[in-house]
Amino acid sequence: MIFEGFDGRAAGLWGTQPLRLRHTLSGLDLFSDGSLARLVEQLPGTHLQINTAGSVGANTWSACDRGGRTGAEVLEAVRGGRLWINMMGLEEVDRRFADLVARIYAEIEEGVPGLRTSRHRIGVLVSSPGARVHYHTDVPCQTLWQLRGRKRIWVYPPTEPFLRGPEIEDVVRRVSEEGISYEPWFDEYARVHDLEAGDMLHWPLNAPHRIVNDDVVNVSLTTEHWTAPSRRAYLVHFGNGVLRSDLGWRPRSRSTAGPGLLAKAGLATAYRLSGLRHRRTAVRTATHVVDPLAGGGARRLVDAPRPVV
Ligand SMILES: [Fe+2]
Repeated sequence: MIFEGFDGRAAGLWGTQPLRLRHTLSGLDLFSDGSLARLVEQLPGTHLQINTAGSVGANTWSACDRGGRTGAEVLEAVRGGRLWINMMGLEEVDRRFADLVARIYAEIEEGVPGLRTSRHRIGVLVSSPGARVHYHTDVPCQTLWQLRGRKRIWVYPPTEPFLRGPEIEDVVRRVSEEGISYEPWFDEYARVHDLEAGDMLHWPLNAPHRIVNDDVVNVSLTTEHWTAPSRRAYLVHFGNGVLRSDLGWRPRSRSTAGPGLLAKAGLATAYRLSGLRHRRTAVRTATHVVDPLAGGGARRLVDAPRPVV
């Protein structure tokens, strides 16, 4: 069993409120330092991002090149610096993760009557003591599983003014890399959770969130999935974004039913097929390189930023 206490109450809250449950994954050898170091060395660049963690008040992060460092050295830089490692889409490249994510969603669908999920993805986040992830939103349905360390997460309602229409549209169309507007007073409306090893948190689709680690290295698992309603929401946001930015119209509806949805779905599909989308997609470039001896665990590249490979 992966969950402890996935009962009727949890089933009723799933997807509609931030929901915390206990899980049994923390002790797996898959998440030992040795296993994580091997993943850092072996994962292709498409499945591994190393970032400098955002500093207090700053709403940005910077991409880091591994610079030929071993996995153990990268983990050492994370332990002593201000970095986070994002290993993504592990189900595509590692059978053990493919099996794990299949087991996870089988248990979730068994626990939530009527729920059908698809396009499961699984990743691992390793982040420095005190590291923070700025206020952002994710496009698919998201779940965070704490494996080691402690962190505080603020989860905000997925509605105006916490999530503005033009901003979620840009995030969905990947025009911006998930940057959305944040005001400190939003915190009064957040649900705050202190996560420890063995805690899982699932929140409503697109709910903005931000994270601050305690003064200890954190290892977390992320899973994501799609459902029929989340797919409809995606199409509406995408279609509204095209209408607003390319055709100069001001969409008034975020409805995910009726003829408006069909029109926006068609618009989204046509736009994506046309190739226009690629022209607008944000490009990721490395401005730093991992260095365990440098302050923060990375040093700035002196030459021009280069694409991350
Ligand atoms: Fe997130």
